[in-house]
Amino acid sequence: MSALPTVRLKGRLNSPHPWVWRTRLEASSLPRRAEPGALVRVVDGAGEPVGLGLLHPHVSIGLRLLTRDPAEAIDAAFFRRRFEAARRLREDVLRLGEVGDAYRLMHGEADGISGLVVDVLGEVVRVDLFARGLARFQDELRAALEALYPGKSVVVRADAHSADVEGFRVRPRPDDPTRTEVTEHGVRFEVDLREGHKTGFFLDQRENRDFLARLVRGRSLLDVHCYTGGFSLHAAVRGEARQVVGVDIDEKAIAVAKRNAKRNQARVRFVRADAFPYLRDCLRRGERPEVLVLDPPKLARGRKERAEGLRVYGDLNRLGLEVVAEGGLLLTCSCSGAVSEEDFLDVLRRSAARTRKELTVLRVAGAAADHPVGLHVPETRYLKAVFARVRSL
Ligand SMILES: C[S@@+](CC[C@H](N)C(=O)[O-])C[C@H]1O[C@@H](n2cnc3c(N)ncnc32)[C@H](O)[C@@H]1O
Repeated sequence: MSALPTVRLKGRLNSPHPWVWRTRLEASSLPRRAEPGALVRVVDGAGEPVGLGLLHPHVSIGLRLLTRDPAEAIDAAFFRRRFEAARRLREDVLRLGEVGDAYRLMHGEADGISGLVVDVLGEVVRVDLFARGLARFQDELRAALEALYPGKSVVVRADAHSADVEGFRVRPRPDDPTRTEVTEHGVRFEVDLREGHKTGFFLDQRENRDFLARLVRGRSLLDVHCYTGGFSLHAAVRGEARQVVGVDIDEKAIAVAKRNAKRNQARVRFVRADAFPYLRDCLRRGERPEVLVLDPPKLARGRKERAEGLRVYGDLNRLGLEVVAEGGLLLTCSCSGAVSEEDFLDVLRRSAARTRKELTVLRVAGAAADHPVGLHVPETRYLKAVFARVRSL
């Protein structure tokens, strides 16, 4: 380990958070020729060892600590130990194998590796990198996952936004699979690994899809931002909803959703449309679904976008509240980490007041349990899913 360059922090490091802001790095200690993303030894201002981390002095997260043990080797065995612990949590504790063949194995900092997301999606293990330093360990990551999941294909990708910010690329391999299939509570989904959103499938909504399916029997459902049909298909197949319509702006997602309906022999109408005009048309035509789902993409990526994000959440939810039938149910979601649960509930409170509705909240949920939250890492908590009954005042 002595060959690694050493980086000194300003002062002591008291937090268990694995990020160290660039401003906390002692500039004089930065190795002159270290490539951004290099593995370094870290010591505090007094020279006491802190651990090992990935250095990127040009971005705001200047250092991501990988281990507090300065003697630990960062190799395939290191990653395998973390993966094994994460797998035990998913399979032995949460028993997700009984639910289906897909789960989130690594949820970044909450599972002990900052910047790393790994989803098991049927026969594929999909790795998404959010940190340049991890791109240097692609071979070790692959080796550890191939050993843990023999027979599955490991696909490694860079998160597009992080790759831009941190300046790295991950080249797809020519033999990478482009699609896979997953089963969740018996409902089957095709997953597009090349052009799908995020890792290809929104595993974080699993428990919310399950809860919604329990509320829709005999009711009509409008699933806005349906992607490949997650809520729609659970409602139609398991929930026995009377009528289901799914709407999404992405043509490719709608094509996959239609194939997913066929796979499950489900009667769902999938429509390619923008949520806002579609909801306005519903109002004009007097179509009032008894259950409405709003699950837009991240509308605020960081603090700078928070105010604008809150405005759009307000516009969308006001429209949704006008559309949903009297006494109906609304499931409204926000996956913006920059918008807190309190912020989001406040948006809903204001939207209800503006539309003269009363909301009775049945549940405020988050992401499924395989997306754990590191208590000292608030960034790992991002999804808000509010289930509410809607009545006019
Ligand atoms: C968070 S995903 C929804 C995930 C989905 N509920 C599921 O369980 O798989 C957000 C979706 O919103 C869609 N979207 C983004 N902007 C939209 C718009 N203006 N109108 C309709 N859909 C939109 C995206 O294409 C994406 O599929």
